[in-house]
Amino acid sequence: MIEIEHLTKRYGTNVVVDDVSFTVEEGTLTVIVGTSGAGKSTLLRMINRLVEPSAGRVFIDGEDTRAIPEDELRHRIGYVIQGYGLFPHRDVAANIATVPRLLGWERRKIAQRVDELLDLFQLDPAEFAHKFPHELSGGQQQRVGVARALAARPSLLLMDEPFGALDAVIRSKAQDDLLAIQRRLGTTIVLVTHDMNEAFHLGDRIAVMDQARLLQHATPAEMLMHPADDFVERLVGTAERPFRLLSLAKVQDAIEPGEAMGEPVAISDSLHDALSRLMWTGRDALPVADARGVILGKVSVGGILQHGRPLP
Ligand SMILES: Nc1ncnc2c1ncn2[C@@H]1O[C@H](COP(=O)(O)OP(=O)(O)OP(=O)(O)O)[C@@H](O)[C@H]1O
Ligand SMILES: [Mg+2]
Repeated sequence: MIEIEHLTKRYGTNVVVDDVSFTVEEGTLTVIVGTSGAGKSTLLRMINRLVEPSAGRVFIDGEDTRAIPEDELRHRIGYVIQGYGLFPHRDVAANIATVPRLLGWERRKIAQRVDELLDLFQLDPAEFAHKFPHELSGGQQQRVGVARALAARPSLLLMDEPFGALDAVIRSKAQDDLLAIQRRLGTTIVLVTHDMNEAFHLGDRIAVMDQARLLQHATPAEMLMHPADDFVERLVGTAERPFRLLSLAKVQDAIEPGEAMGEPVAISDSLHDALSRLMWTGRDALPVADARGVILGKVSVGGILQHGRPLP
């Protein structure tokens, strides 16, 4: 879907993105993480040519982005800017309608789409459609920003710290919403964040940047098992590693035959959640149920702990 080849950005003699290459598969979510000033936003903005690369190329669906007119590129690619980036003098509905209007959609179709997105982001259209950005909380503005980026159903979405301003509870809800939307629509997403928990929660692949360079591009599990260097190892957090592994694995991976007492855990739950339930209930094992509530076996503390460490 997106091939990034030897992408470089210089400002004068300052190299802010240095020879970065990686591929983003269609329908996946790639997270770019790294410290402030590492070049994450610049890298993201070179994908839709908001920033012109000094060297290197980007291909989208095999097409060199330099061959695509810039306005067409911007309409095809949704972009959620760092900060809120809403147009202050347009109300919520007009903000969301920006790209569909540019594309010349019919008024009725635009109005329908705006309502649909407001519903999706749990902003009651009757209450919010005609509010202006300054009348919204930071979290509401951020949701409108994401809704605006999704309005014209782009197959590719670039998001620069889209949830930065949200508190922990709404943030986690927004992340789950994004994953649900992404799975339903098959959108390809590249998302920048500072937050490693967010990276591990959302990313099919994680790209770690430091001082303009790409240090590692890997699946979350690969990155945990084989960090490319000390920087990546510190970033994933040595103390967090076992718990991150358990968050990535499912009850399905640790199910055992046999019976256990207690409220069942779902086969689709993470092992992290299952261990948490086991510890909280003080049990050694709990039954495992499928989506219909049929008991399939059990999951035990000992069984789970096998998954919180690298494979032998
Ligand atoms: N237009 C510009 N002119 C000169 N230098 C720039 C310009 N834009 C960015 N830079 C520099 O490039 C480097 C990378 O900036 P970038 O915004 O990509 O970082 P970032 O990883 O997104 O940081 P943050 O996490 O703080 O958002 C920084 O040192 C920044 O000062
Ligand atoms: Mg940035």
